[in-house]
Order: sequence, then structure tokens, then C-alpha cells
Amino acid sequence: MTAACDRHIVRAWVKKGDNRRMQGKRILLGVTDGIAAYKSAELVRRLVEHGAQVQVVMTAAAGEFVTPTTFQALSGRTVRTDLWDAAAEAAMGHIELARWADLVLVAPASADFLARLAHGLADDLLSTLCLATAAPIALAPAMNHLMWSNAATRANVELLGARGVHLIGPGVGDQACGEHGPGRLAEPGEIVSQVAQWLPPAGPLLGRRVLLTAGPTRECIDPVRFVSNRSSGKMGFAMAQAMRAAGAEVVLVSGPVSLPTPPGVRRVDVESAEQMYAAVQRELPGTAIFIGTAAVADYRPLACAPQKIKKNSDSLALELTRTTDILAQVSASAPRPFMVGFAAETNAVEHYALAKLLAKNLDLIAANEVGHTKAFDCDDNSLLVLWRGGRLELPVASKQELARALSGVIVEQFLAQQAAHERDSSAPRDGAELATREGARAS
Ligand code: C5P
Repeated sequence: MTAACDRHIVRAWVKKGDNRRMQGKRILLGVTDGIAAYKSAELVRRLVEHGAQVQVVMTAAAGEFVTPTTFQALSGRTVRTDLWDAAAEAAMGHIELARWADLVLVAPASADFLARLAHGLADDLLSTLCLATAAPIALAPAMNHLMWSNAATRANVELLGARGVHLIGPGVGDQACGEHGPGRLAEPGEIVSQVAQWLPPAGPLLGRRVLLTAGPTRECIDPVRFVSNRSSGKMGFAMAQAMRAAGAEVVLVSGPVSLPTPPGVRRVDVESAEQMYAAVQRELPGTAIFIGTAAVADYRPLACAPQKIKKNSDSLALELTRTTDILAQVSASAPRPFMVGFAAETNAVEHYALAKLLAKNLDLIAANEVGHTKAFDCDDNSLLVLWRGGRLELPVASKQELARALSGVIVEQFLAQQAAHERDSSAPRDGAELATREGARAS
């Protein structure tokens, strides 16, 4: 792949935004009986809106709650209901249909359906498809809260989970029967965003591994106190999500933050800079891109007191010692990944960021101004992105938007570097090699 071609792919991918994961994916949506089946119509609409191809398969009892015509109009495909429908089978047989799917999603999944799936029954089209497919299966259960809590349902859910079937919800709330409790079908928006993580990834980083650090670190003073900073981890988590959306296998080493793990991302929780460095060393092999977004403490107390320090004196001096610079260490490792650092500065942002890019031997650095309400612990930010031979200002936007834009630049620079390496390694190495080749050609 040429660098120009890479750039074209990256721009097209960035332009598509968040929906790219669903684009063109084939989702077989099973609808079983339950009052929540009306929400499945909205679910089809949203999946289609995200670019997915949706084939609806209804159980016979689901037809008591919603008509196939509704689903047909929304999906643009004839709804399948019957294992013995000769005409439908002639168009696409049930085994073919099971192979067609990138993912089987059953929403709502009734208690009866969970039981039948758990016990391997294949007495109708939907259960047969579930048994015959190699695609991931996701279930969004919906039922009365007592049925959900029943020991038989609990055992079925556990069995299905142990077999790798994914579960979405159910939510807790008021139920159609007038009672309250767990058993409400998850909202269509939530189902769509959960489903995305189990679809085969796409994007320019497919097959590449990205390792990120995020959040603050906590450096122990005594068993109840620590030194830390204001980092919320939001930028790092948004970057992890953006790199996952680019198709990468993503490992996120995170300091203590109160953020949910982005779907499809493997998270390793740590506390101190020392633990973060150890986790990074463990996860580093095979990493193509390393992104250091963590606000790693630069100093830690020389020793962590084994007991709580008592306030016996008017002042207390803490002796601090430098922590390991994780980014600089990874950059000095071999093989060295594509290195991305962050720089938080209170003044002369570009000057200090450039100095850091060179001092830590980075490929790219994203810098921002910090202080008062800027950058740390807030939702918006702006970035100055610098790399050897380039610079880009990303104006104030949400951290999610910034992460998407920044990931586009990272992917573009990473692919350009890969292409240059490939060119270099296929080019003649030195004069002697060139002379040998020329000689061989002449003879
Ligand atoms: O030198 P400074 O701390 O400003 O550099 C910031 C960059 O270095 C960030 O990318 C941060 O994640 C990384 N860093 C690190 N380990 C440290 C200090 C900073 O990885 N101990």
C-alpha cells in the first residue's frame, strides 16, 4: 500500500465517524414473544441507520405482539418466521442464513427462549439458527422480574454466559405488568452500542495492537494518604475508544479513575507509577503504537510509611524521589513502537512540547495548556499536535471529538512511517549491495 493510498483510506475512515463499525455488517435480529417486542422496531431502525444489513427472524409467538410487515418495512427484507417455509428456504436456506450473519442478536429474548437456547433445542427457525451459527450471539432479555430472578432462569443465563453468549441488560424499572424490578429490555441505543463491540472490527489498524496509559497515578505516603494529580482519565479513555474504532486491539493501562471501560478495550488497573510501568512492560510485546496519556506522577515519596503518620509536629517534610519515565523507557526499547506522548504545559506550550518530542524521541506529541479550568478534569479541550515535519492545531472540542481527530493523525503518520520502512527495507542497503546487483544484471 502506498502512503498516498493510506492517507485516502484514513480520511475516508475518519469522515465516517462512529458508525463505521456497523457499516455493511450483517445482523440477524431474532424477535421472541413479549410486550417489549415493539421496541425491536426502533432497534431495527437504528441498526439500519448505522449502516447494518438487518435480517429479522420472528418466533411464532412474537407475531402476537408485532407484525412482520413492520419489520419488513424497516429492514427492507422479508421477515423469516418458519423453518418449513419452502419458498424462503429456496431463496436462502437456514444453514446459509446462519452463515450469513456477522452477529445474531435476540431482542427481546424471553425466558422461554433462554431456556430453549441453554438446552440446545432446535425446534423452530430462530433456535435452529442460533445452534447452527458460528457468529457471536447476543441476547437482550425482557421478562417479568420474578421470571428473571427465578432459579431456573438464573441457571440458564449462567450456562449461556459460560458458553460465550453475550448479555445486554436487562434494565430495572416499571414493567408492563404493573410491577417493578429487573427485566426491562435494554434501550435500543444501548443495545446498538453494546453490539458494536462484538462485531468483527474494521478500520486501518486491523491486526495492530495499541497500548495506552491513562489517568493519574497515586503515590503512597502511608496506608491512608497519597500524592496524586487532577487527571480524570477522560482523554486517555476517549483515545482508547478511538483507536478501537480504528480496528486495533487496544490495551488500556489505567490509574484510578471513575470511568467505564470503552467497549472492546482490555483494561488493566494500576495505582502507582511503578505498577503502571510494570503493567506496560508486561503488555508491550507486539505493540505497534504506544500512547502515553497518563499524568504519571513525576515524584513519589521515598518510602511509604507502614502505619498512618500522626500529626505530632507543626510541619512535615516528605522526601520525594523521581519515578520512571514510562514514555521515555518505552521509546528506548527495541523493537520500538510508534510513540505518541502528551504534554500538559502552563506556558510556552509549543516550545516545551517540541523539546519533549525530541528529548523522549517521540513520533508525535499532543500538547495542551493546563491550569485553572483548562484541560484537567473537564470535558472540553484543545490540542496542538506536533510531529517531525508537521503541526496541526485542533480547536476546542469535546475530548471524544478531539480523540477522533487525533487518532486520524496518528493513524496517518503511523501508516506513512510503516510505508517508508517497507520502502527502505526493500531498497538496496549500500554501495556494495548495489554493485553486486548491477554486476549480476550485467553478467
Ligand atoms: O515530561 P512530562 O511528564 O511532561 O511528559 C508527559 C508525557 O510523558 C505524557 O505522555 C506522559 O504520559 C508521559 N510520562 C510517562 N511517565 C512519567 C512521566 C510522564 O510516561 N513518569
